[in-house]
Amino acid sequence: MPAPVLDELLSEIREAARSVNAFARLQQVLRNSVRQPDAIANAIAGIDDDEVLLFEDETCSVWSCRYQSDVVFAPHEHCMTAHIAVYRGAELEVMYQCESAGLRHTGNKVVSAGEVLTLPPDAIHAVSAEGQSHSHAIHVYQGPLSGVTRSLFDWSTGARVEFSMDNFYAMRRQKSEMSEFS
Ligand SMILES: [Fe+2]
Repeated sequence: MPAPVLDELLSEIREAARSVNAFARLQQVLRNSVRQPDAIANAIAGIDDDEVLLFEDETCSVWSCRYQSDVVFAPHEHCMTAHIAVYRGAELEVMYQCESAGLRHTGNKVVSAGEVLTLPPDAIHAVSAEGQSHSHAIHVYQGPLSGVTRSLFDWSTGARVEFSMDNFYAMRRQKSEMSEFS
């Protein structure tokens, strides 16, 4: 069972996601929520697993996400708008573009506690944390994430790999081995 503070946030997210202005309303809800981040960060810290699906319907999918700074999860797409709200630590988005020659690294974005980043539906990112502590975030996707066919991308060739949580975990890399950080 999520903590009451997460239940409250979830009901605000669900209401925003089914509204006419879902994009702007979700950004507003999340920006408000990161202003006083401690209670939500503590609730995320209390969840057993690092990545947990909290809610999903046709309008939105909501995940709690903790990442560590030495591990980078493989590039993937969402095929829908994604809002990333960070409550403790900092999440690191490693951004790519898919080109005929393969994946091209286009830059890294740090999303610190108190910030919200929105990624467009065609974004491809690998994900990690910045700094010494775990990042604590809520990710809101504007649709049924488990219901769409989407891809991971092979680190070396950029070839599409079927998205599954097993593949997601199997393809992770150590940050120290990656040229994106050298
Ligand atoms: Fe992602």
